[in-house]
Amino acid sequence: MDNTAKETRMRFCEYGQEHVFKFWEILSEDSRLRLLQQAKSIDLEYLSKIIQSVLHERVVDPQFYKDIQPANFIKRPNSATDQLRCNEIIQLGEEKIRDGKVAIFTVAGGQGTRLGCVIPKGTTPITPIKKKSLFQVFAEKIRAAEKKYECQFHWVILTSDRNHNETIEFFGKNDSFGIENIHFIKQGLMPAVDFDGKILMESRDRIAMYPNGHGGALKALEQTGMLTMLKNRGIDTISYFQVDNPLVKCVDPYLVGVHEKNKAQITSRMVKKLYPEEKVGVFCKKDGQLYVVEYSDLPRECAMAKTETGDLKFCAANVGIHLFSVPFIEKFGVTIQSEIPYHASKKTIPTIDNLGEPLMPDSTNGITFEMFIFDAFPFATKNIVVESKRSETFSPVKNADGLDSPKTCKQDQLRLFAHWLLQAGADIPTDANGLPPFDIEISPMFADNEKDFLKKWAALEARPAIGPGQYIE
Ligand code: UD1
Repeated sequence: MDNTAKETRMRFCEYGQEHVFKFWEILSEDSRLRLLQQAKSIDLEYLSKIIQSVLHERVVDPQFYKDIQPANFIKRPNSATDQLRCNEIIQLGEEKIRDGKVAIFTVAGGQGTRLGCVIPKGTTPITPIKKKSLFQVFAEKIRAAEKKYECQFHWVILTSDRNHNETIEFFGKNDSFGIENIHFIKQGLMPAVDFDGKILMESRDRIAMYPNGHGGALKALEQTGMLTMLKNRGIDTISYFQVDNPLVKCVDPYLVGVHEKNKAQITSRMVKKLYPEEKVGVFCKKDGQLYVVEYSDLPRECAMAKTETGDLKFCAANVGIHLFSVPFIEKFGVTIQSEIPYHASKKTIPTIDNLGEPLMPDSTNGITFEMFIFDAFPFATKNIVVESKRSETFSPVKNADGLDSPKTCKQDQLRLFAHWLLQAGADIPTDANGLPPFDIEISPMFADNEKDFLKKWAALEARPAIGPGQYIE
């Protein structure tokens, strides 16, 4: 170990990061080994370039926004002809799904800092009555689709070093909620640095490493061999979604149909942005390429701009639901990954003081680096964006309270269940916002969309009277 240790320490010295080994002389053999392993996993040349660009240059040139335009998107059907066309596309998607060409990919490597999560976010209880976790909701949607399409899906879950073991334990304790082909892959990590670009230490023998953003997801698929495994099983499309949204259609035949019909590399769902300041990215285009511009980057005049009919001009909100073609992901690993930028985010990072004692700063003390998946979009030659109804697509859990919190998500689920029941002719009171005065819940195993619900409900021999606590499964 001695020679490697010397070489590694020298390299850190060359890059002005020698403080990483400050406590080396007093570390035990085990601790030295651990620190060395971690240190060796860091590409210092790459890191210093990123630090340089993030600390001294802007990730996005403000000029970029000068000619940005709203992206085109396929609107929701609003006529009988549209609906007919839509049904044909659904059929195409269903064929592809039945043929086993689609795998499912959930990104769950984030830390859920805003939600105040100490547990993996996917394990958060989310449904109104049964308090099913986000992971259980997805699993049940996938099982329902397996039954409907008589096939078995591969479900890949992206974790990070910070939640990998707990995520696996959670699925283990719950017999993977009945999913046979489930795979967990870890995303990459990047060291956190202080505002002078010095690597932060979490303890004397541990560098503060953080997940490298969902931009690391495609690379992780490729690097872990998962992509090859899926490809060998005939899969050519990956259905990607974020762990925070229980309304997502994990298997979306319409989206798959659109993707297939257009031979797209990336096909994304969008919903209409509600108000200018809503904290969502928006789909935009420039020079024929598709971009997602984050709310924090979208110039105020763009966010506020209206069309002639008074709607928001930049209205296509990114909901983190995308289909990727496997060849595009392969190309991503070879060329695109090194081209996409790292974004810096200021954080309060637990670290150590000069004596190596734990230090919990009371304000931001450093930055973490993340790549965003949508920075890969401009590299695709064929992107499609498809509009969805918000009430049946998107209700993310981001914050502990207020907007996008467990409370709003529960209300959105209740509204959706009540709407399906009303459409089916059931008797259920609702207020002006469509919210019932009591909790109800519909299991995804019964139905996870209106059409299937109406069919199943109509076929019931005895329909339950709807009242407080009614669970339909
Ligand atoms: C994200 C999008 C935003 C979109 C919104 C919709 C970004 C930068 N912005 O915002 O355009 O409108 O969702 O809800 O993504 N994740 C990982 N590994 C990481 C970091 C995140 O797997 O290293 C996962 C998280 O677990 C989560 C998802 O990526 O499932 C979204 O990440 P998050 O940082 O919460 O993005 P938002 O700011 O919510």
